[in-house]
This record gives sequence, C-alpha cells and structure tokens, in this order.
Amino acid sequence: MTARILLLNGPNLNLLGTREPEIYGEETLADVEAYVTRAANDFGLDVRSLQSNHEGELIDAIHAAREDCSAVIINPGALSHTSVALRDALAGVQLLVAEVHISNVYSREPFRHQSYVSAVADCIIVGCGVQGYDLAVRRIASLLAG
Ligand code: DQA
Repeated sequence: MTARILLLNGPNLNLLGTREPEIYGEETLADVEAYVTRAANDFGLDVRSLQSNHEGELIDAIHAAREDCSAVIINPGALSHTSVALRDALAGVQLLVAEVHISNVYSREPFRHQSYVSAVADCIIVGCGVQGYDLAVRRIASLLAG
C-alpha cells in the first residue's frame, strides 16, 4: 500500500499569498499543496491536505490519520504557540511529525519563540519560506525509507 502524508495547515494559512507577503511570500496555499503533492509523489508517497482555522478540526484530522497515514507535515500557525491540545494529539498517535514554519519565528516577537509542537516533532523546519514544506517531504521520505 502507498504510504500517505497528511499535510495540515492551521489558522490563517488559507490567506497565504495575500497575508503579510513580506513575511510569508506570495505563493498561495494551493501552490503549496500542489508542490507538496508533486514532491511526495516523486518519492512514491500520497498526500491528503487540510487547512483549518479551527483547532478541533485539526485535532480530528490527526486522529483520523491513524487509519491511513504514516506522517504529518504540519504548520500549526499561531496554535504552535498556544495549543497543548494540538501537541497532545500529535503525541498520542504513532505518526512521524514534521513541523514547518515559513518565517523565522526566532527573529520575530518573543511569543513566537516557543512551540508546544516542537517537543513532539521528528523534525522542525523554520525560516525556509514555503520551500520548508518541500524539505519536510524529503525528510519524511527518508525517515519512512528507514
Ligand atoms: C507561522 C509562524 C506563526 O508564528 C504564525 O502565527 C503563523 C505562521 C509560519 O509559518 O511562519 O501563522 O507558523
């Protein structure tokens, strides 16, 4: 069976392309989802994509991924800095986790310097722009290949 990655984007990432483009760039979420899918397909992996502005919807998607996914690539957006529940959801499933932040959160406001998700992530990619998602696919593919 083909292994599948769940690509999750949290609050406000639906606005990619128009939201603070000097920080997040001009590519849209659709662009990101398309090239994550392409990159994953090159490694023989499938992708299911979800963006939500709602914490519970992201948590439900993580729980559902137990059934048919091997890994999660997640940009939790601002929930990174606030959500113990999202962290616990990721800790509670047997999935590889790649955490992506488009911007360099460490060069920004102090409240962005802590991520609850990082402690349960298998890799963390920060400040590489949307290319970070591609790097996450590569890392997940190599971890899945063992
Ligand atoms: C972000 C960084 C977060 O601090 C912010 O709230 C986001 C996007 C990033 O991709 O750089 O929504 O996760």
